Amino acid sequence: MPITQLNIRAVRNLSDLSLAPSPSINIIHGANGSGKSSVLEAIHLLGLCRSFRTNKLNHLIQTGSQRCTVFAQLDAMGSGVSQPLGVERNLESDCRIRYAGNNIDITTLAELLPIQVINSETFMILEGSPAIRRQFLDWGSFHSNPEFIRLWRGFRRVLKQRNSLLKYGKIEQRIRVVWDQEFISYAEQLNTLRELYIEALKPEFDLILADLLEGISIDLSFSPGWDKKRGLDQVLDENFERDLRQGYTSAGPQRADLRLKVDGHTASERLSRGQKKVVVSALKLAQGVLFYKLNSRACIYLIDDLPSELDQHHSRLFCNYLEKTASQCFITCVDKDALTEYWSEPAGLRFFNIQDGCL
Ligand SMILES: Nc1ncnc2c1ncn2[C@@H]1O[C@H](COP(=O)(O)OP(=O)(O)O)[C@@H](O)[C@H]1O
Ligand SMILES: [Mg+2]
Repeated sequence: MPITQLNIRAVRNLSDLSLAPSPSINIIHGANGSGKSSVLEAIHLLGLCRSFRTNKLNHLIQTGSQRCTVFAQLDAMGSGVSQPLGVERNLESDCRIRYAGNNIDITTLAELLPIQVINSETFMILEGSPAIRRQFLDWGSFHSNPEFIRLWRGFRRVLKQRNSLLKYGKIEQRIRVVWDQEFISYAEQLNTLRELYIEALKPEFDLILADLLEGISIDLSFSPGWDKKRGLDQVLDENFERDLRQGYTSAGPQRADLRLKVDGHTASERLSRGQKKVVVSALKLAQGVLFYKLNSRACIYLIDDLPSELDQHHSRLFCNYLEKTASQCFITCVDKDALTEYWSEPAGLRFFNIQDGCL
C-alpha cells in the first residue's frame, strides 16, 4: 500500500486539500479547471520534486504564496508501516525533502516513489524528439539498476567537459586522449545498462501489445547513439574534426534512441494517432509490470484524462492491465461514469469529486 494519506498545500488552485487514497484505483473527477491535473502534479512533486507541466515555479505555486508543500504517509516498501514524506518548494527554487524524520536527496526520493505519468505529452513518445524516448529508457534503467545514476551523472560530467573543450576550439592530443578514455568507459557501461533494460522490457511489451492492439506487431529495439560495428574510440576519432567545428560531441549515449518498427517501417509514420496511443500505453504498462518483477513493489501511475485519450474498448483493456500491475493509480476524468465500468474489482475503487480546488 503506497500513499495512504495525502495533503496538498498551495499547488495551483489547491489551497489545502487532503485525501485518503485507495491503494489501488483512485478516480479524480470534476469540471475543466477544477484542479484534477493539479492533484496529479502535486503527487509528481512529491515523488520527483518537480512538476510535469512546467519548469517555472511561479506557475506551480499558488498565486500569492511563497511556497507549496505536499505531505504524504507512505508505505514505500510495502512493509505495512507508513512513514511521513514531505516535499516543499519555494519561489527561490529551494527544495526540501523530509522522509521518516530525515532530510533526503532527490535520488533517494525517486527510488522511494517510482512514478509513471501518462498524459497527452507522454502520448508523443513515438513522434517526439529522441530526448523523450531517452527519458522513458532512463526511467527504466534507473529503477532496474542502482549503478545507473552514478554512471549517468559521471557521463554527463565528462560530456560537458568534452563539449566545452570542443567549443574552446583547441585540444591538446594528450588531454583529448584522457577525456576520451573516460568518455568511452562511462558510455559503454551506461549503454550496457540501457541495452539490458530494453531486452528485459521487450517480452513484457510484446505480451501487452498483443492484447491491446490485435494483428499488429511492433519491433522494439535500441539504438545506442553510435555505430556499434565500429568501436566508440574509432567513432570519436573519425568525428573529431567535425565535432571541433560544431563545438559538441556528435556520437555517444547522449544520442541513444528507441526504434519502433511495423513491418520494417517506422511506427510513427505508419500507425494512426489512436494506434500510437495504444502502443505508448503498452510501453508504459510494460514498464510498470517489469518494475514490479524486478523490485517486488509497484509504481504509482498518474493518468491525466484517460477517456479523452483512448476509446472505450482500449480504455477497458488498459484499465484491466493497470489492475494487473497492482499499482496505485490516480486517474482523472471529467465524467466519472466514463471510467466506472472498466474494473474487475470495483471494491478497490475510490472516487474524488473536485470543485474549485476542493473535494
Ligand atoms: N499558480 C496558480 N495559482 C492559482 N491558480 C492557478 C495557478 N495555476 C493555475 N491555476 C488554476 O488552477 C485551476 C486548476 O487547473 P487544472 O488542475 O489544470 O484543472 P483540471 O485538470 O481540473 O482541468 C485552473 O482553474 C487554473 O486557472
Ligand atoms: Mg486537466
